Parts: sequence; structure tokens; C-alpha cells
Amino acid sequence: MEALKDVRVLDMTHVQAGPTCSQLLAWMGADVIKFEPPQGDATRAQLRDVPDADSLYFTMLNCNKRSITVNMKTAEGRQVFVDLLKICDVVMENFGPGVLDRLGFPWEKIHAINPRIVMGSIKGFGSSGPYADFKAYENVAQAMGGAMSTTGTPEGPPFVTGAQIGDSGTGLHLAIGLLAALRQRDRTGQGQYVEVAMMDGVMNLCRVKWRDHQRLTRGPLSEYSVPTHQGMGATPRAGNDSGGGQLGNAIRCKPGGPNDFIYIVVQEAVWDPLARRIGPEIGQPGLAADPKFATIGERRRNQAEVWELIGEFALKHTKRELMAILNDIDVPCGPIMSTEDLAGDAHVKLREMYVELDHPQRGKWYNVGMPIKLSASPARIERSPLLGEHTEEVLKAVLDYDEAKVAALRQAGAFSAPPKKAKP
Ligand SMILES: CC(C)(COP(=O)(O)OP(=O)(O)OC[C@H]1O[C@@H](n2cnc3c(N)ncnc32)[C@H](O)[C@@H]1OP(=O)(O)O)[C@@H](O)C(=O)NCCC(=O)NCCS
Repeated sequence: MEALKDVRVLDMTHVQAGPTCSQLLAWMGADVIKFEPPQGDATRAQLRDVPDADSLYFTMLNCNKRSITVNMKTAEGRQVFVDLLKICDVVMENFGPGVLDRLGFPWEKIHAINPRIVMGSIKGFGSSGPYADFKAYENVAQAMGGAMSTTGTPEGPPFVTGAQIGDSGTGLHLAIGLLAALRQRDRTGQGQYVEVAMMDGVMNLCRVKWRDHQRLTRGPLSEYSVPTHQGMGATPRAGNDSGGGQLGNAIRCKPGGPNDFIYIVVQEAVWDPLARRIGPEIGQPGLAADPKFATIGERRRNQAEVWELIGEFALKHTKRELMAILNDIDVPCGPIMSTEDLAGDAHVKLREMYVELDHPQRGKWYNVGMPIKLSASPARIERSPLLGEHTEEVLKAVLDYDEAKVAALRQAGAFSAPPKKAKP
């Protein structure tokens, strides 16, 4: 927790895209002050599994942060915000288009208040272009960034992926941008505006599909298992094809349950040992010498048969047995791990990638751990904050407000939602 220990982040982000970024910054040691409206980040109450407790949606994305609630729709609340801007290194938000402008804080004003501050902003489509005014969620970004059109099979509908590439992927992009901007700030004394559009982030993660999009102008894609032809326009959905220069596929194994599959990459260098290993077991002892599969070109042409042969072998073994058999002969492969498999996996446990935590409202729960391992700054994962848990602490210890000032602000409604109007 040493790497960013002198960085203070004013974190106005909500839902997933922004909070994943600020959680990573917190795990690298930043002091992240989650600045929430009095009713809190909406995800605190979304998909609740324990009555009246912060949801896992919230707790899993907001660890190691301090929470303060401030009503930005009061003059006093806005003054607290300005005071925090003055002493923070980073301010970050992922509100809908125009929200911060409507609250009276465009980037130009924030920069004028604190020229050193770096501002991170996530939008569905950025602040310019014909889509700039649109809101976005994860699957909207997957739809518009090219991921969905290339996921699934040609005859079926487009599919979203389970990995949250639109939200968490964008959070990662933002973290990189913020760290670069801080480095420049340290040299120049000037902050800057760092913007990541979710659609842009998804396009970045679909880079190899753009490679294929351009290759289609020259001819068919020989490694694809689905039909392609020159001039077909869009990169097609190609099921579980590898997407790289090597052939790959997900193969069913014993005993045939929903996740009894293994992904196998038939790397060029491993065909011979692989054919020698599987051939005798499926009654084809001469497989390694069969000219139909002798070169990568032949294997691409006959890949349906390659998968059939490997599939026959795979059905005789479980995915864990296959992982051992194939790694033994250096074949890159991965059993399809369910969340249940992973939750009990020794490797995951050893790498602290599924971490048990305690929470005053919900008791024991788990978070996915820190995937970036810094040798001199290991993460120490701590539970997410309750709503407004640190309001007093931040006002007094960080902003140096005295008791009388805090009381006056509270009286003026700076930390609470306006009372609901009684129905006539
Ligand atoms: C995610 C999203 C669709 C949610 O939309 P939403 O629930 O309507 O929320 P918005 O961000 O548009 O608006 C937030 C409101 O809370 C208000 N608010 C936020 N913080 C506040 C505070 N501390 N005090 C008072 N009001 C506050 C804002 O002023 C705004 O009110 P307004 O509509 O009167 O301007 C939208 O925020 C968005 O498109 N964000 C950018 C893309 C993104 O990050 N999406 C992925 C989310 S995982």
C-alpha cells in the first residue's frame, strides 16, 4: 500500500465503471474519499441479498475507501466540494453527460480552483461526437464497441461477454490515464483532463477483430472455422475460435456437465506430441504422420476433423485430468472454470484472488482480490465503507473544520437529502 500513499482521490464515481478504477487506486495505496450524494451510490441498494445491508454490488467495488455524503445541490455542500478539490490530487466522476456542468463544475472551473488536480471522467461515448449526449451501461458499450457483433455464432444472435469489459475495462483504462497524468503533473505542476469513453475502451479491447476486419478486404480468414470471404465487410462471430494465429476451441470432456469443457490451443509446435498422445487412445496410432494434418495450413483446412479427433479423446477424461495430460506435453489449455470451481481453487487461494472479509452489516463475504501484484506495495484489502461513515473524520482531519463549522453545515443541510415534500 505504498505506491500511491501520497495521492488523495476525490471519488465521485458510482455504479461500476468508475468505482473499479478508484478501488484499484486505493489498493495501490491512494487515500480514496468516496463522495456520495446523501442517499448514497445507487448500487448500495441494488440486488440486495441481505436486508438493509450494503449489496455485494457495492461492497465488491468500493473496498479501502472512505465515504462522505455531501449534498451538492446546496451552496454549503458545494463549498465542501470546493474545499476538497483544493487538497486532492485527483477528482473522478462517471456521471451522465452534462451532470457536473449542471452542478456548476465544468473542468475549466475545477482546473481554476486547483491547477494541480487531475480530473478523470468516464462517459459512455466521450464529450464529443454525435453520441456524446447518450447515457451508457456495460452492455450498451459492448453493443456499440464491436464486442457483441463478434461474440456468438453466425447463425445465432450476438452475445455479451461475462467479463465486464465495458465497465471494469473502462475503469482500467482510466487508471492508466490518471497515473500518466499524475506523472506529468509532478513534472509540470499542471493537472489535466483524462477522459475515457466506454465505447472507445471496448474498441481497444476488440483490436484483433479490427485486424480481421481489414484482412477481409484481401481474402478469406483461413483460421476461422466459420465461412469467410473477401469483401464480406464485417468480422463475423466465430464461436470459440482462438482469435489468434494458432487454432483453438472449447472441447467437451467427461462427465459432460455444463462446464465440462477445456479450451485447447493447437499451437503449431505441439501438433506432433499431441497427435502421438491422443492417436493411440482413439484407435489412430498413425495420426502424427497423417498428411491431412501435417502442416498448420492442412490443419486449418481440416479443422473440423481436428476438433472431432481431439473431442473423442477429451470425452475419455475430466477437464482436470486433461489439464494435467496436456500441460505434460506443453499444450496450452484451460479447463472452463465455473465460479464454483474458482471459489475453491488452490491456485486462486494462494494468489489471494478470492479474499474473505468481514462487514458490520453482512458478516463474512468475499471479494475478488487485487490482480496487479506490486512487490514493494502489496495490497491489503479492507471492507467497503458504510454510507457516510467517514464524513466527520474527513471534514475534521482532512479539511480541518472545527466542531462548530461541521454543526453549522449539518444544520444547513450540506450532508443530508432535502426532506421529502408531503403529499397534498
Ligand atoms: C450510469 C448512468 C447511466 C446512470 O444514470 P443516472 O442514474 O440517471 O445518473 P446520472 O449520472 O445521470 O445523474 C446523477 C444525478 O445525481 C446527482 N448527484 C450526484 N452526486 C450528487 C451529490 N453529491 N449531491 C447531490 N446530487 C448529486 C446529479 O446532480 C445528477 O442529478 P441531475 O440528474 O439532477 O443532474 C450515467 O451516470 C452515465 O451514463 N454515466 C456515464 C457512463 C457510465 O459510467 N456508465 C457505466 C456505469 S457502470
